[in-house]
Amino acid sequence: MSRFDLLVVRKKMLYKTLISVLIFLTLSIPVITNADRQSAELPSFVSRQLMSNMRDHLETLEEITLLLAESKYAQAADTAENNLGMSSAELHYKKFVGKYMPKGMRNIGTQMHKAASDFALSAREAEKDGGLNRNRVLTALSQVMKQCVACHDFYRAK
Ligand code: HEC
Repeated sequence: MSRFDLLVVRKKMLYKTLISVLIFLTLSIPVITNADRQSAELPSFVSRQLMSNMRDHLETLEEITLLLAESKYAQAADTAENNLGMSSAELHYKKFVGKYMPKGMRNIGTQMHKAASDFALSAREAEKDGGLNRNRVLTALSQVMKQCVACHDFYRAK
């Protein structure tokens, strides 16, 4: 084997090792984070109420997506604000569920409500300009979902 061949073999081995390490990390990170999820330690009646809110949240996202597909921006804004936005925060969290949440979890909840109100604002702008800023509306929606994902990554109900 010439020196050049040896060099090529070494380089290939290095790449293989690097790729294995990357694959290992990619596969193990979700497991690690899931194992690390913190239990919210909620009383069972609160946890039942929370799960019911959660299923409503998912339904709301489905409705919003459909309204956006139909370019019904004003309706999408109303749906988001009333069900997920700051207007609903008072109703859902402060008075009932939020009171029992660990602080970090409540913060993510508040961020989600804020993101939903921001989404509603950009959807109202889209209503005015006939959907010119449609991309901004979709980005704002993904910011809402980011908070769903963040909380699910960190917390579990039991
Ligand atoms: C502040 C924290 C938090 C936020 C924000 C949040 N969730 Fe959840 N969600 C939870 C927890 C905790 C569970 C229970 C997960 C577990 O125990 O494995 C849950 C469970 C769920 C479930 C399962 C309900 C069931 O009946 O089992 C759905 C669906 C869901 N969330 C949807 C959403 C959607 C959609 C959003 C965003 C719009 C969202 N959640 C935002 C904390 C949150």
